[in-house]
Amino acid sequence: MRKPFIVANWKMNFLHDDAINYIQKLILGTIDIHNTEIGVAAQDIFLKELSDSTLNTNIKIVAQNAHWKNEGSYTGETSPMALSDLGVDYVMLGHFERRQLFNETNETVNRKLRNALNNNLDVIVDVEELEQVEPVLKFITEEQMARISIAFEPTYAIGTGKAASAQGAQDVAKAIRDIVRENYGSNVSEGLRVLYGGSVDINNELDFVLQEDIDGVLVGKASLNVDNFIKMIQKLSNL
Ligand code: PGA
Repeated sequence: MRKPFIVANWKMNFLHDDAINYIQKLILGTIDIHNTEIGVAAQDIFLKELSDSTLNTNIKIVAQNAHWKNEGSYTGETSPMALSDLGVDYVMLGHFERRQLFNETNETVNRKLRNALNNNLDVIVDVEELEQVEPVLKFITEEQMARISIAFEPTYAIGTGKAASAQGAQDVAKAIRDIVRENYGSNVSEGLRVLYGGSVDINNELDFVLQEDIDGVLVGKASLNVDNFIKMIQKLSNL
């Protein structure tokens, strides 16, 4: 059984106090939930405090990007080694906004993925289409695959209020699992968590997670209100 995974993608939102108030409410609101993994993807500047405050909880803190090198002359970039040192659990790589606005390519996502794994970070790899799956996973070993979740986020659905159909998302999630099975065998593919993202809200989340190959959701806008996000987590954990 794959443990359901629900991730809030805060993107570039919130000031410091908003972030801290949110996480404190989230900790209290989910204290009894153990059957669902919860992720919060935040701006780098909040990560240390968020990681410290969620120690020994079921909440995983997620960076939104990390460089393919650990150190050096890369002004403005974030080192995965430094993230790991801070106690950050996950990094999300390849989000559509990174690709569209900051020129991420399959190659850069793949380089970042390999280095994040080398630094003991777990990774949520975002793909918008099936063609991206194999190139972003290039050189990834069977052992490393156990630390990767794949989030399928069709571009038309991100931030538009127009989510994919549950059946359409299931078809792609299954196809992703099939690709992983072909490359890594069924043990790995059966353990892989595939998330759906793109205009997920409290009304449609269960349509997605009830699909056989969808193990969770990546939530942007609907996660920005902590009370709403807690309700979404509770709904998922009551399945
Ligand atoms: P959205 O964002 O839920 O606002 O569509 C999802 C995402 O970009 O990860």
